[in-house]
Amino acid sequence: MKTIDDLQVAGLRVLVRVDLNVPLDGGRVADDGRIRASLPTLTALTNRGARVIVCSHLGRPGGKPDSRYSLAPVAARLGQLLGKPVEFTAETVGPSVRAAVEALRPGSVIMLENLRFTAAETSKDDAQRGLFADQLAGLADVYVADGFGAMHRKHASVYDVALRLPHAAGYLVAAEVAALTRLTANIRRPYVVVLGGAKVADKFEAIGSLIDAADWILVGGAMAFPFLVAQGHKVGTSLLEPDQIELARRYLDQAAHAGTPIVLPSDFIVAARPAADTPREIVTADKIPADRMGLDIGPESATSFAIRILQASTVFWNGPMGVFELAPFASGTRTVAKALTGSEAFTFIGGGDTGAAIRALGFAESAFGHVSTGGGASLEFVQGKILPGLAVLEDQ
Ligand code: 3PG
Ligand code: MG
Repeated sequence: MKTIDDLQVAGLRVLVRVDLNVPLDGGRVADDGRIRASLPTLTALTNRGARVIVCSHLGRPGGKPDSRYSLAPVAARLGQLLGKPVEFTAETVGPSVRAAVEALRPGSVIMLENLRFTAAETSKDDAQRGLFADQLAGLADVYVADGFGAMHRKHASVYDVALRLPHAAGYLVAAEVAALTRLTANIRRPYVVVLGGAKVADKFEAIGSLIDAADWILVGGAMAFPFLVAQGHKVGTSLLEPDQIELARRYLDQAAHAGTPIVLPSDFIVAARPAADTPREIVTADKIPADRMGLDIGPESATSFAIRILQASTVFWNGPMGVFELAPFASGTRTVAKALTGSEAFTFIGGGDTGAAIRALGFAESAFGHVSTGGGASLEFVQGKILPGLAVLEDQ
């Protein structure tokens, strides 16, 4: 895989696909981790005199313009962090964008409006995506792939543009791939996988291959509930997708055969609803009241997870242990994060939410082996799946 070090860029128009899909809060960037992660590549390109065109998606606006998903606040934050103005185009492609790009001087940066304001970006139809990719490619001389978090998507800006322009990976993608390779080749054991988070459906199917790869699987967050139900427990009003219970049962069987323990929480912090001011209590996992929901793993579970993490040589963590955004339900996630920082293991944190969680809880990214900008992308990589955005870089 070529990197930007192998590309001529001086004076050239360089289209850089980044993943600046960051959480916004009232029009303000709530966590700028992904923006910071894009800086090394963007700074190197501007220092080398490239005319830099930055493009990204934000959220899932459904293929039409929607001001709630405008990248304008992200462009402003990027400008602050780069220490230079970032011009923002109100459209993604078209004559006004072409004119703005033509006026762009070497060493300057322009950012396009949300790629997903155009339905063709995410279309399943190759020809439709191709037409949009033609327009994007027409803006530039070379293409740089640095949006690791979106590389598992076969989208126009991730995949098809790379077929149309000389291309290379940015530094973020190179660093992500180097770190992920430590989870797929010559893994130092014991290898502990910690899974959590609320978006269970996105991750559930990854468990099958992680059971084969890992020595221990620790499950917290909403991910734990289908397993508890599969074991015959009641989980009250906790987040639960019933269609996952059968799969959880099969994973428990698979894990028993493989000799890979799936460790579930033995206690939970429960409340009537996810709010900071609601009365809460600690209950054992088999005693979640019918009118309460589990919002964090309990202290006994957190300690037992931490002990296993401290014995590991490699740790992959994806998904918070509870509703960490609310202080009363952050301790499970904090205890797990603290164990990772205290362990001798190579620690890999995957998932936009998990990265945001450790930053929000005040941990320095440098205390971990690698903090990935990709959730779905890193999970697919560790399962051995082919990421379209990476494959297209390696092919030529
Ligand atoms: C993410 O945040 O997971 C990436 O930016 C990809 O977004 P998507 O899941 O909407 O494709
Ligand atoms: Mg996602």
